[in-house]
Amino acid sequence: MTAPDQNRTHEKFLWGSATAAYQCEGGWDEDGKGLSNWDVFCHSDDNDVNPVDGDVASDHYHRYEDDIRMMAEGNQNAYRFSISWSRIIPDGTGAVEQRGLDHYRKVIETCHRYGVEPLVTLYHYDLPQPLFENGGWENRETVDAFERYAEVCFDAFGDSVTHWMTVNEPNYETLCEYGIGNYPPNVRDLRRRWHAIYNILLASARAVVRFRSGGHAGQIGLVSDSYPIESLVDDEAHRDAARLADLFFNRCVNDVAIDGTFPVEFLDKIESDGTDMSFIHRDDAAVFLDGTIDYLGLNVYDRILVKPYTTGETNLRANNTGDATSTNQIIVKGWFEHDVDPTTEKNPWGMEIYPQAMYDILVELRDRYPGTPVIITENGVGYRDVVVDGEVHDDYRIDYLRGFVEQMQRAIDDGCDVRGYLVWSTIDLYSWINGYEKRYGLVRVDFDTLARTPKDSYHWYAAHIAAQKEIT
Ligand code: BG6
Repeated sequence: MTAPDQNRTHEKFLWGSATAAYQCEGGWDEDGKGLSNWDVFCHSDDNDVNPVDGDVASDHYHRYEDDIRMMAEGNQNAYRFSISWSRIIPDGTGAVEQRGLDHYRKVIETCHRYGVEPLVTLYHYDLPQPLFENGGWENRETVDAFERYAEVCFDAFGDSVTHWMTVNEPNYETLCEYGIGNYPPNVRDLRRRWHAIYNILLASARAVVRFRSGGHAGQIGLVSDSYPIESLVDDEAHRDAARLADLFFNRCVNDVAIDGTFPVEFLDKIESDGTDMSFIHRDDAAVFLDGTIDYLGLNVYDRILVKPYTTGETNLRANNTGDATSTNQIIVKGWFEHDVDPTTEKNPWGMEIYPQAMYDILVELRDRYPGTPVIITENGVGYRDVVVDGEVHDDYRIDYLRGFVEQMQRAIDDGCDVRGYLVWSTIDLYSWINGYEKRYGLVRVDFDTLARTPKDSYHWYAAHIAAQKEIT
């Protein structure tokens, strides 16, 4: 295997794209893989909003070489993908499956062969089913299991991976699992959310500590979906709402991952909401401090607009259908409410097209956490693409990506330390609640034949990267 050169990590700007295992691999029961919670959820009647599954998905498990080759042909030099925990340790805690290790070794080798830097996420939402049944992230034993799983991966691939990410989006994952209730375990109780997010962050910190004590080369980060929190009205009540929303979405993850501590106001607030805080153990504080990250993986899609909380119970809803019958709504009792700017453009799922979000969040992070490098680990937009004579003319996606890339460049010019940019997603893949209708890929996948066709956005991105060569 190609040995990583640690110095190489800062030499070039990373231009690439990203995927996650469950969303693209398929091969759900191949080569000794165990069941994940998403396998089981998608095979059950609980998945009633969007009853499709990732059994085959984009068949990336078998076609990864084609996909990586196409990335390289499109001038991309970085590929972020996740490892499926259930392929490596099928039941989450027991024996290691050599065929799982062999698979990802081949993926990593293929990346190196094509001059593409592999960026590896250890956990992107798919939890081994036995751990899920045992309480998932609400059970501390899942933290122990993750630490061991991470160590197995570091030992297996540490010689050939220079960019690791522990977990993907602790905020968004737990928001869907325990707030909106559209990801398993489909709960609507934010007090349980805080327990789960705490354990995910603890698992991440423990993995970082293991990575360092193992003497592995390279850097380790965590992927955070972070948002500039803005309001349409500038008064004290709106500023208070924005501060609380910042704690709720951003700082409950970023302060911990970067500074190693939870914001005191956040802890006070969730306790006063009736959260049972006994999940906090005294020794954890030192682990969080030791387990701070080398860089922040940042997923940027849009901003969040808020207004003051007025009345009513906590209520979180997501637009799961991409039509006018479904809306996004967030009311968090005693904290804030979500607001909408009727004048801005949105995609069919209600996501605001707001490129300045990229600039605003990068500058905010630069100021709040000075000295923390950032890699944009996801940026993209979902649409129902239309095929015309075998091609996808996705000008809307080009406009979106161009806008966000320009805003990233503006932030870099203003002193933000950004080391890479990865489009979500490399190819069309499974969307957690929107199945195969909502597409993000630079490359179209025909989910009947599994044939790949580069979209116009793929060609735009290839030309953009070629024109950049160096971005500093
Ligand atoms: C990110 C996730 O939050 O958003 C991805 O990391 C996901 O896994 C992407 O696919 C888009 O989400 P959705 O729900 O629009 O498909």
